[in-house]
Amino acid sequence: MPLPFKHLISTRQLTRADTEEILKVSAEMEKIRKKGGNELLKGKILAALFYEPSTRTRLSFETAMQRLGGEVVTAEGIQFSSLYKGETIEDTLQMVSQYADIAVMRHPEQGSAEKAASASSIPFINAGDGPGQHPTQALLDLYTIEKECGRIDGIHIAMVGDLRYGRTVHSLSYLLGLFKNVRFTLISPGELTMPEKVTGFYRENNLSFEETDDIRLGLDADVIYMTRVQQERFADRSEYERLKLKYVLSAAMLKGKKVTVMHPLPRVGEISTDVDALKNAAYFRQAGNGVPVRMALLAMLLGKA
Ligand code: CP
Repeated sequence: MPLPFKHLISTRQLTRADTEEILKVSAEMEKIRKKGGNELLKGKILAALFYEPSTRTRLSFETAMQRLGGEVVTAEGIQFSSLYKGETIEDTLQMVSQYADIAVMRHPEQGSAEKAASASSIPFINAGDGPGQHPTQALLDLYTIEKECGRIDGIHIAMVGDLRYGRTVHSLSYLLGLFKNVRFTLISPGELTMPEKVTGFYRENNLSFEETDDIRLGLDADVIYMTRVQQERFADRSEYERLKLKYVLSAAMLKGKKVTVMHPLPRVGEISTDVDALKNAAYFRQAGNGVPVRMALLAMLLGKA
């Protein structure tokens, strides 16, 4: 089934049927990746525009394209591109559309993805727009939840940390809202609670959610989704320093617990390294799932899946 849209900007544009189709194609792509890849996208070029730092998203998109036989051209850092000279995002995408077959962009400004897509004549994928959305991360998170827990309907997820600026928890909330009987426990300091745009979505869709600042309420969930306090979104450095390590998940806290531990990464102390050896620790497997999910998205948006 082809996707009913050309650009992927937000998880809010996805239906349950679209999402399940992407997860199904991702599972096929995982098999292809295990065999070393194929030539499905031979002759196609991905423009990878990363105007804000990234390790996983950028490398997994580039790996995904190359595993499918395609090629990648890149632009990195605003200061090394003509955005620095004042070129608009729209002009950049008009021009990139002349060079490549598909584009992916990360940019620090919320709303930049809509601007880029509006000017792009090739498929465009949002790889994170400031505190806005990160739809491909949410899709790989969902793929991970299904693999680790065996289901998505009925899961209890605890989201912990910077729920205000963390775009991954926003995008993932909208996707989980497509599934049945999902329960959210939102754990954050009062300064970093989930924004009204997301809690309003929970209410409109009759989703069960509770808000607390006590991490112990997340330890018996099916999934505990830890997040980094987003240093780059704080105007006041001292406020960041005060909040950055409010929650640190340790192996001692997880003793006897079955909860699956996820994190979009990078972590900067919120999961202690003694958790890494536990079976519960799914975050590096989660990062690995970025490759098949992004292989699926590239192939589907290029009409080749
Ligand atoms: N999860 C994620 O988006 O990681 P990067 O910032 O390294 O791409």
